[in-house]
Parts: sequence; C-alpha cells; structure tokens
Amino acid sequence: MPANKDPSWRQKVSIIRHQVQMRGVARTAADVMVFYLRYIPEWDRSFDRRHGTDTAGTVAPPSLGIEDLGTREAAVPYLPSPEDVTRWMLQQLPRLGVDPARTTFVDFGCGKGRVILLASELGFAEVVGVEISESLVTIARRNLCAASRLARRCRSVRVEQADAGRFVLPAGNLMVHFYHPFNESILRQVVRNLATHGETHGARIDVAYLLPTGVDEAVESVFASVGHFRQLSYAQSASTEYDWTFFTNQRA
Ligand SMILES: C[S@@+](CC[C@H](N)C(=O)[O-])C[C@H]1O[C@@H](n2cnc3c(N)ncnc32)[C@H](O)[C@@H]1O
Repeated sequence: MPANKDPSWRQKVSIIRHQVQMRGVARTAADVMVFYLRYIPEWDRSFDRRHGTDTAGTVAPPSLGIEDLGTREAAVPYLPSPEDVTRWMLQQLPRLGVDPARTTFVDFGCGKGRVILLASELGFAEVVGVEISESLVTIARRNLCAASRLARRCRSVRVEQADAGRFVLPAGNLMVHFYHPFNESILRQVVRNLATHGETHGARIDVAYLLPTGVDEAVESVFASVGHFRQLSYAQSASTEYDWTFFTNQRA
C-alpha cells in the first residue's frame, strides 16, 4: 500500500504501533519528536503575520502558468526563503565588499517577493524581482504595497514578469540572488548574460546562491564552465537544506 502523506488518527496510531514493535519505544519517541519539530518552510507564516503579506505556501511548476514546455520543465516549485536565512546572507555583503548604494539587487525567480522585501531594507540603488509566473508577479506586487511596516531604505523596488534567461539586466553593479529557481540549462543562460554584462560595462557582479540539498555540484559546474566568476565562500547548514555559495566576477 502506498504511503499516505496525510494519515488519519487511526492510521497514525497504527504507524506508531508498528514502529514501536520494529524499533522500540525510545527510537519511536525520538523519530516522532524529530518529525513534529522539523521546519516546514511553506507553513512558516511568521513573516506574513508581521508584515501583512502573502509569501508563504508552495506552488508546483504545472500551476505556475509557464507556457513554454521546456521552461516549465526547467522550473522548480515556488517556495519562499526563510527570513532568517535571507537576513544572514544580507549581513555578509559588507564583508564581501558589496556597496549597496552603488549596486542593484536582483532576485531571479522572486516568487511572491519575500527576498526583495528584505533586500529593500538595505540602501540598494534599486531592488528588482524577476519572476516568470504572472500570478506570482501579481501577488509580489500586492505584497510590495502591503508591507508598510518594513524599514525600507530603497525607494525603487519593482517586480518584472520575465523569463530569467531573457531578462535585460539593469545598468551598473549587480548583487544577484538565486534560491535555486531553475535547472542548469536556464541558469547557464543567465550566468552567461551576467558575465557579458560585467565585461561589456565594467560592472561588478556578486552572486548569492541558496542551494537546497543535492544541487551544489551542478550549480558550481555552471559557474565554472561559463568562466568569469570565482567562488568566494561556501556556508553549509546542518540540514544541508540552506547552504549558501557566493561568487564574484572580481579578480582576487
Ligand atoms: C524556489 S522559488 C524562490 C522564490 C524567492 N526567490 C525566495 O527566495 O523566496 C523559485 C521561483 O523561480 C521562479 N521561476 C522558475 N523558472 C523561472 C524562469 N525561467 N524565469 C523566472 N522565474 C522563474 C518560480 O516561479 C519560483 O517562483
């Protein structure tokens, strides 16, 4: 019988009885505790409760409204970054030499806009969210208006509906954020565009990439194969669900 993701109470009791028989009381108690204490990002509404926004939840690629089949198959589900994980990344930027006042922050695959809202608290010259899904763009724009309690220091915050691979980059230095939004085929196109932008305009490009478990090698190989970028640092999380890797196009 296939596993039921949402078992009834009767089924839960039966699962626990079998688990106790197989693995004993202590192991079962530990397993149940780990299960109930685990972090489920789509259920975390703490940011939305404080700011009157709608950024929680998840949306699977078939429901994102992406028409092109290849692009839809390359997309990952919408899932918001946890607030503390994003805030930690933003705190690293001075150490990396990023000057917000002379830099535009771009979130590729901004979804409902949680990361661009958090980035707007820093004094970036501009903050731009790029999102392919029309319905998520509508929600993100609504969130920009709703989040009045954020201490915004950036006056120009916008959301553009576009495929990341075709997006025309804003002029000047860029601080680019990805929460693993698509597979390597689209990522390679975006990284090529970033490399060309840096070379053509003499712009500084820094990248903060949030890696869910198991994608680090593929992502690093894209940056290595396109060239122009070097890895600055890698910060691993205990669960490996929220590892950060940073790249720059600046020479050592
Ligand atoms: C994992 S979510 C990240 C959301 C947000 N950046 C955050 O960290 O809270 C990835 C997002 O990328 C978007 N996406 C997928 N493919 C895309 C593409 N080709 N161009 C732009 N956005 C895309 C999805 O619709 C989804 O909203």
